[in-house]
Amino acid sequence: MRILVDSRGKKFLADSNDLHTDAGYIKGEEIEKSSTGDVLMTHLGKKYTVLDANINDYIELMERRCSIILPKDMGVMAAYTGIGCGNKVLDAGTGAGASAIFLANLVGPNGKVYSYEIREDFAEIARRNIAGFGLNNVEVKCQDLALDLVEKDLDLVFLDLPKPWILAEKAYSAIKTGGFLATYTPFVDQVITLHHVLKKVGFSNIETVECLLRGMEVKSKGTRPKTRMTGHTGYLTFARKL
Ligand SMILES: C[S@@+](CC[C@H](N)C(=O)[O-])C[C@H]1O[C@@H](n2cnc3c(N)ncnc32)[C@H](O)[C@@H]1O
Repeated sequence: MRILVDSRGKKFLADSNDLHTDAGYIKGEEIEKSSTGDVLMTHLGKKYTVLDANINDYIELMERRCSIILPKDMGVMAAYTGIGCGNKVLDAGTGAGASAIFLANLVGPNGKVYSYEIREDFAEIARRNIAGFGLNNVEVKCQDLALDLVEKDLDLVFLDLPKPWILAEKAYSAIKTGGFLATYTPFVDQVITLHHVLKKVGFSNIETVECLLRGMEVKSKGTRPKTRMTGHTGYLTFARKL
């Protein structure tokens, strides 16, 4: 996938359609003929650079019909679990496939992501999104994870669904010794239930973190934190099987 980016970082898909922006348009034929690195100009003179989409560009622009986990939270998840090349991961629910794509990119061609989605329409969108990024190490399974979880010896089980504690026992037996469970939940009430259940099931090192990301505003009159920020996304709870 190729994108067009302006100097402020605003991104558009580069396909054969005319691009209409607040600063003029670029003809579809011109976009189609362009190569990566080219700079195209709208009829009013605004510049757009043609780029190959990286994983963040792709996830931001891909089709979605549900909320997805944001890069800041995926980054924390990767850092806390140490997931990497060749690992075997389970992801649920698949949703639009953002977490599956992020994890598949981390584990690489020698690793594997099994992603479970209960809704057929969402599973189809996710399969398209995953294939569109050229990944072939993800298997999207359209089924309720609560009914069946056949994978074993997993390095990580990542749960982004409403009642992750229901799956705690199944996750525990699917995770290899030393592997992690990570959950992403928006409410404190969910975190409390999770801690209670994860302890009962036998998980160790149970901890919950929230990632608050504050950008900086660098201006000629002074530099300070931005006054606006995303106040809350979700809590990340980690637990290890020892
Ligand atoms: C918030 S979305 C997941 C977003 C996804 N992690 C991403 O980053 O794109 C939650 C998804 O979980 C699915 N889901 C809920 N319960 C499920 C279950 N028991 N088994 C499989 N999928 C489930 C929902 O249909 C929904 O698509």
